[in-house]
Parts: sequence; C-alpha cells; structure tokens
Amino acid sequence: MISRRDWLRISAGAGAALGLNPRLLRALQTGAVRTRAIPSTGEQVPIIGLGGRWISANSPPEELADHRRVLHALADGAEGAGRVFDSAAGYGRGGSETYAGQWAEEDGFGDGIFWTTKVNVAGRGGGSADPAAVRDQIERSFTRLRRDVIDLDQVHNMGDPPTQLGILQEYKESGRIRYIGITTTSQRQYGRLADVMRQYPLDFIGIDYAIDNRTVEERILPLAQDEGIAVMVYLPFGRSRMWRRIGDRELPDWASEFDAHTWAQFMLKYVVAHPAVTVAAPGTGDPAHMVDNLGGGRGRLPTREHLRRMVDLVEGLPGG
Ligand SMILES: NC(=O)c1ccc[n+]([C@@H]2O[C@H](COP(=O)([O-])OP(=O)(O)OC[C@H]3O[C@@H](n4cnc5c(N)ncnc54)[C@H](OP(=O)(O)O)[C@@H]3O)[C@@H](O)[C@H]2O)c1
Repeated sequence: MISRRDWLRISAGAGAALGLNPRLLRALQTGAVRTRAIPSTGEQVPIIGLGGRWISANSPPEELADHRRVLHALADGAEGAGRVFDSAAGYGRGGSETYAGQWAEEDGFGDGIFWTTKVNVAGRGGGSADPAAVRDQIERSFTRLRRDVIDLDQVHNMGDPPTQLGILQEYKESGRIRYIGITTTSQRQYGRLADVMRQYPLDFIGIDYAIDNRTVEERILPLAQDEGIAVMVYLPFGRSRMWRRIGDRELPDWASEFDAHTWAQFMLKYVVAHPAVTVAAPGTGDPAHMVDNLGGGRGRLPTREHLRRMVDLVEGLPGG
C-alpha cells in the first residue's frame, strides 16, 4: 500500500512536471476537500473523481503502471481528496474493471474507492436487452472489480432502460448495489433521458458537461435538482477538444480568485460550481494530471460573475 509519504513524493514529482511551485503544491495538498451529498441518501462524496475509460486489456505495461499510480493518487493520496472511480463493463475490453479491481485488492486500497460501473447489453439506445445477459454482465463486474458490493451501477448509453434499470433495481433491493443510474453523452438522447429521470427511481445520472458544452444547463441539470438525482459529469474537458482550443494560452490571473491554478482546475471548477453537480469524473492516465485534477476539488469555487467571465473567455477561443 502506498504511504502518505510516497504520495507526497509522487505528487511533488507531479507538481514539478506541471511547473507548480512548492508553495502552490502544498496548498493543493492541504486545502479542504470539497464534497457534495448524494441527494437520495445524503452520503457525501468528494467532487472530483476519475474516469476509467482509458485502462484497457490492450494497454502496454508502462501505461498500466501509470494508471495504477493514478488510482493510488485517487484512493489514498491526499487523505480522501478523491474517491469516485467510474468504469464500465465495456471499457477497454473489460480491462478497466479488471485491472482496477486487481490493483485495489493487491495494494489494499479498495475500501478507499467509491466504485461505479455501467452495464449495457442493448447497444446505444434502440435495441433490447436479454435479461440473462444483463445479469451475467452485472455479475462479471462484481468478479472483475473483486467487490461484494458495488457503490453505483448505471445503464450505459440509455440501453433498454425498462429491462436494465429493472434488474439494477432488484440488485439494489438485495443490497449488492447501493445506487443505480443511467448515462448518456449524446444530446440526441437528452429527451429520452429526461423521460427516464421522471419515470424511474434513479440515484444518479452520468452526463457530458464542459465549459464549452453547456446544453445540460437548460433542462437536465434543473430536472436533476427537482427530482433529487445526483449528477456525475463526464467529458469535462471534451476529451482533447478544450485542450486544442486553449493551446498554449496563459491562464488568466483572475482564476486565482477561485483557487484555480491550472487550466484543468479552471475547467473542473466551472462544472462543479453548478449546484446540481455531485462529482466530475475527468479521465487521465497521467499521475501528474490526477494530482492536478484533484486540486480542482479544493479551495474556493467561482462566483456567478466568475462563471460569466469564464464562459466569455472560452467563447473567444478558436474552434467553438
Ligand atoms: N456514456 C457514458 O457513460 C460516458 C461517455 C464518455 C465518457 N464517460 C466517462 O467520462 C470519463 C471522462 O471522459 P474522457 O476521459 O473521455 O474525457 P475528458 O475527461 O473530457 O478528457 C480526458 C483527456 O484530458 C486529458 N487530461 C486529463 N487531465 C488533464 C490535466 N490535468 N492536464 C492536461 N490534460 C489532462 C487526458 O489526457 P491524459 O491521460 O494525458 O491526462 C485525456 O486526453 C471517462 O473516463 C468515462 O469514465 C462516460
């Protein structure tokens, strides 16, 4: 198991890689970690987690070693700075669940993680799910993650909600899954998502939201607040999109007014400032980036005026 001293060494290396000065790095490690309540229970989770899409059965060993360090930084790094790990049965040919479960067991950090995964045997919307295949896939997630209880299992990409949410609900009632939900990152599915949010007893939704991708602010986020559904944010950087748009621009000085010291923290703080958002799950395979992202969960959040200024700035970038 990684010790706090090891973590500080890793994060000091990460800080150097990010060009952070030691005083700033200390601030990132020591500021209070922000948490939000899951509306259906009141349980608190840190507002920054990790998206596990890029851990794959096909990843070369050196990449896997980095992903393992990323998970360490999430689980036992800065004393509960992060916790939520988002995976899916379909990620990386099963490698995302399998490796995360194996490392957690071998290194003893499994209890530090809030384990979230997804099920879908019906494709992206449209198709229907064979109940036996749904159960098989859910059971495989328990085996791969090496957990008796999964914290959150969501229907991936709106696949056959009646069948798959129904089965997840049974697992929830048996106590093996603590929370259930549904995800999409396709605006074409927002209408159906809104219907499902009204019709089913969901604990969570997972949805795409970024400073330059704000459609969910119109209907989905207010509905989540009305219905008491937690929101996990996906694609907070739009994968490579926002990085391309920012290029080598300097972070504006006023970002320090809400304790954003890097562009990653600037973008993460934009999405977690929305009161409907429970946790953001940025993806990374780089331990330095994980430390950076966790910094987005500490310190002050932008005010309404900052949020307006942030959007203005981003709208002036190329590639909008
Ligand atoms: N329908 C669904 O349910 C659905 C769909 C899509 C995604 N998701 C979930 O959302 C998660 C996030 O999505 P994503 O990983 O595709 O996109 P993302 O979080 O928007 O962006 C990831 C990209 O940003 C880079 N990055 C991360 N932190 C950085 C930092 N501090 N500084 C510079 N670059 C940084 C990563 O590169 P490095 O590896 O080099 O850091 C990677 O290229 C996924 O992992 C998955 O769990 C769910």
